[in-house]
Amino acid sequence: MPLLGVNIDHVATLRQLRGTKFPEPVVAASICELAGVHSITVHLREDRRHIQDRDVKLLRETLQTRLNLEMAVTEEMVGIACDLRPNSVCLVPEKRQEVTTEGGLDVISLFKAVKNAVGRLNEKGIQVSLFIDPDQKQIEASKKTGAQMVEIHTGSYCNHPEELNQILSSIQYAKELNLICNAGHGLDTINIQPLAKHPDIHEFNIGHSIICRAVLVGLDQAVREMLALLR
Ligand code: PXP
Repeated sequence: MPLLGVNIDHVATLRQLRGTKFPEPVVAASICELAGVHSITVHLREDRRHIQDRDVKLLRETLQTRLNLEMAVTEEMVGIACDLRPNSVCLVPEKRQEVTTEGGLDVISLFKAVKNAVGRLNEKGIQVSLFIDPDQKQIEASKKTGAQMVEIHTGSYCNHPEELNQILSSIQYAKELNLICNAGHGLDTINIQPLAKHPDIHEFNIGHSIICRAVLVGLDQAVREMLALLR
């Protein structure tokens, strides 16, 4: 069975909207762990729009599973990761204006910087994954950086299911190159189905659809709790 990592960035998005203390990402992470998740992912963005430095520190101290830190390939982020030592880092491209990570990391153009970051993170015992589009050349370049894993960007497949074959052949190619292969972005209970039982996907990283579902399945209880107080 592939493993499941849950991305809890949008718990922090809700908190930052109001500047409140809740919802607390650390509590959300514990609930995910109690439900059986295999890892927790957070993206510490350069603009700190959702996850904050204190969230990552607290998660590092409290998680019972694994912490996967998503981050841009910058000096600041590599420094933070080397100090904090999450179990793994997933290097992603980052644009300030984007709503979410739009495309994969261009490992070919950024080869020197990515290789350098992979080396520094590996020295601290942190496994590194590269978030890339389903493209053979990007997989080859990823291997050459020394990264242990790739995460295949499924966002385009989720919008265009006819691209499933590109995802499948990328998983196969990553396996041939002895790279651990993860997958994520845009996955939900429907579009994950053709991939869910794939023997060569190590871990899925899923955020938005799980947090959205949690809002809907949790709303009934939240309303009942408030009504009980009013009675
Ligand atoms: N993997 C990576 C590298 C991501 O950047 C994201 C989005 O933050 C995800 C997985 C999760 O994507 P989604 O929130 O669409 O499930």
